[in-house]
Amino acid sequence: FPGKPGRPIELGFTAIAASRVDDIVVPPEYTFDVILPWGTPILGDYPAYLDGGHNSGVDQEQQIGMHHDGMHYFPLSPSPVHGSRHGLLVMNHEYIDQRAMHASGPTLVDGVRDADEVRKEIAAHGVSVVEIREHRGRWEVVRGRFNRRVTAATPMEIRGPARSHVKMRTAYSPDGTRTRGTHNNCAHGFTPWGTYLTCEENFAGYYVNRGERPREHGRYGVATGNGRYRWETVEPRYDATPGIGEATSDFRNEPNTQGWITEINPFRPGSTPVKHTAMGRFAHEGIVFAKPGPGRPLVAYMGDDAQNEYIYKYVSRENYIPGRAGSHLLDDGTLYAARFNDDGHGEWLPLDIDDAGFRAAADAAGVAFSDQGDVVINARLAADVAGATPMDRPEWGAVDPNNGWVYFTLTNNSQRGNSSEVDEANPRGPNPYGHIIRFLEDGGRHDSATFTWDIFLLSGTESDSLGPDGNPLTADNIHASPDGLWFDANGLLWIQTDMSGSQLASGPFGNNQMLVANPATGQIKRFLSGPNVCEVTGVVATPDHRTLFVNIQHPGEGGGGSSWPGNVLRPRSATVVVRRRDGGIVGT
Ligand code: FEO
Ligand code: CA
Ligand code: CA
Ligand code: CA
Repeated sequence: FPGKPGRPIELGFTAIAASRVDDIVVPPEYTFDVILPWGTPILGDYPAYLDGGHNSGVDQEQQIGMHHDGMHYFPLSPSPVHGSRHGLLVMNHEYIDQRAMHASGPTLVDGVRDADEVRKEIAAHGVSVVEIREHRGRWEVVRGRFNRRVTAATPMEIRGPARSHVKMRTAYSPDGTRTRGTHNNCAHGFTPWGTYLTCEENFAGYYVNRGERPREHGRYGVATGNGRYRWETVEPRYDATPGIGEATSDFRNEPNTQGWITEINPFRPGSTPVKHTAMGRFAHEGIVFAKPGPGRPLVAYMGDDAQNEYIYKYVSRENYIPGRAGSHLLDDGTLYAARFNDDGHGEWLPLDIDDAGFRAAADAAGVAFSDQGDVVINARLAADVAGATPMDRPEWGAVDPNNGWVYFTLTNNSQRGNSSEVDEANPRGPNPYGHIIRFLEDGGRHDSATFTWDIFLLSGTESDSLGPDGNPLTADNIHASPDGLWFDANGLLWIQTDMSGSQLASGPFGNNQMLVANPATGQIKRFLSGPNVCEVTGVVATPDHRTLFVNIQHPGEGGGGSSWPGNVLRPRSATVVVRRRDGGIVGT
């Protein structure tokens, strides 16, 4: 392996077999508990969860949302011992399963959704902040002052180059400085100053435009017939059809206020979440920061999860000062898109209206950007113009704490070889199984303009894969559609899968799962298998690495034969607490 090798750590657990059990399966050396299923009361009147879909919209505003995804654990004590038993768990709720959510529904009368169903659906999206602690060996909810729901209706502030932009002005915020809600929150990030970042992925389909389509709608996929859940029949802001008056008389620009990196301070429950537009508007999967060096800029990596979209990097203009809040650093910096050349080298292409090369490329392509706000609102178009490399659906990124290699999952791409060419960085067309790519910034500086890359593994079957040790994967570790990705503090790489369709139903891989790899040795083992028709997504440990939190999303989606987490009429997304029976460090 190139780069400075990490410490060799033996993966000291028994690999589990691929499984189709409707439950969590972990190695025999481990145990698990289930906490915080959808509907768990965390706020206000603490309305009890009612099975059968009988909770109201107001109830849902005080309960854990649906479809758990990326999450982070913020310890509430600086002591590794106490901080590993008491903290804030902050998690995303990506979307909803309407059939599981409502007693009978979704209801549509004369083409209009039931208002309380819509209220409940909007409230089941977004982010939960919940104080938890370990008490007599069990993790439980603390009814504390930090508990909060941020939803698809929460007022938010817009900062960065798109703040006050003419394309951000709406009837709600005529000066383009505010909006409501965060949507389709997939993976996440966390800042060095202790805040949470939620990433707005497939936001576009929540909106409908039945009229003339500006480029901000077309490229991102704003719906043309009906919105994803037809919320526009109850909430006018989801109808982005341009009216005959000014933009401030309607919601044509509302979709432009979504698709950003949004910062939430979990320690200030009354704070207004902030959309940081300098980091671009696209189907943000997640964000991961490089280890911040004193006297160096802040650097973060991001993926745009759609077929043939790009990997991005953000570099702050000012340097990061350790120990200080740095929210302002996310509002002033340079956004880059990645070009992976076939020779194993790559370049970061600035998407910067002040960069002569970028302006020349835009002119040559016949594309006009009025200002940097226009560039970030149309980040995909800007990356096209710059010449970035279309990728096989970039999902999560992770940075190796031992040597700074940056890893990205590329989950799959049925269109590779069709709408995009096969290349060295995306070598299979079509690519049903996905792969994991990695790169090392040249000169050991994350703000470098160039990098060196290789492929860490090709996911797939025993006869169509390539493991990190250079050999095909085996029964202990075959998998497909890698998505969640996280480096623990020891340098072990946790990989989560999001297979769907026939790959999930009848492939050799079993249910969606989580594996652990050690990049220093090339070892990789299957660690956890989820219940039927779930996705395994979101993973974080306590500071002592003796408790692992893993999210299970959409078990039994679409009526797919799950009653997890047991004795329920409706399957429920939930968080799984995984520990070693001997109390040791997970993974090792
Ligand atoms: Fe929501 Fe790209 O996974
Ligand atoms: Ca994902
Ligand atoms: Ca996915
Ligand atoms: Ca998902």
